[in-house]
Amino acid sequence: MKSTTVRVGILTVSDRTARGEYEDRSGPVIAEIIESELPGGVVAERAIVPDDVEAIQQVLRHWADDLHLDLILTTGGTGFAPRDHTPEATRPLLDREAPGLVVAMLVASLRVTPHAMLSRPAAGMRGRTLIVNLPGSPKAVRENLETILPALPHGLELLRDAPGASERHQHQA
Ligand code: MTE
Repeated sequence: MKSTTVRVGILTVSDRTARGEYEDRSGPVIAEIIESELPGGVVAERAIVPDDVEAIQQVLRHWADDLHLDLILTTGGTGFAPRDHTPEATRPLLDREAPGLVVAMLVASLRVTPHAMLSRPAAGMRGRTLIVNLPGSPKAVRENLETILPALPHGLELLRDAPGASERHQHQA
């Protein structure tokens, strides 16, 4: 398969990290996985915002609508705490949801910890940008991202509507 560049945005959502009280340890884990394990993966944008719906949506809109990134991964704010509303910021911006990615992450994570059921991620497409919410801890980020990684190249190829993507899929099936 011809290798295509996959431009990725990494958005860390955390009040304390945005205030500089905590170092962002999850953003770098995503960057490392993207650049070493996703074919063509390039980190094009990085940002840290507080757990604030407007701030999250501003970045998601800019990266999807203006920069046309292929993939946006958020980390943090998916849990039960009152300030956790990354999914509520993400979901209204999606044209189509991708529940398979969410189910895959939750099923795999439940094998690791029952606390996985406390994560409420959203995933789906805005235009040709795939947006996926990951939990906040570096460990959870690695476990969740590595679960969906094997399906991402084909999913992103379909999303681009690359000529031959569906034929290739039929051949493989
Ligand atoms: N998923 C995996 N794979 N591994 C984990 O350690 N931690 C959980 C869960 N998902 C975890 C996980 C915990 S403790 C919480 S509270 C939720 O994700 C939500 O995390 P967030 O609020 O940081 O997004």
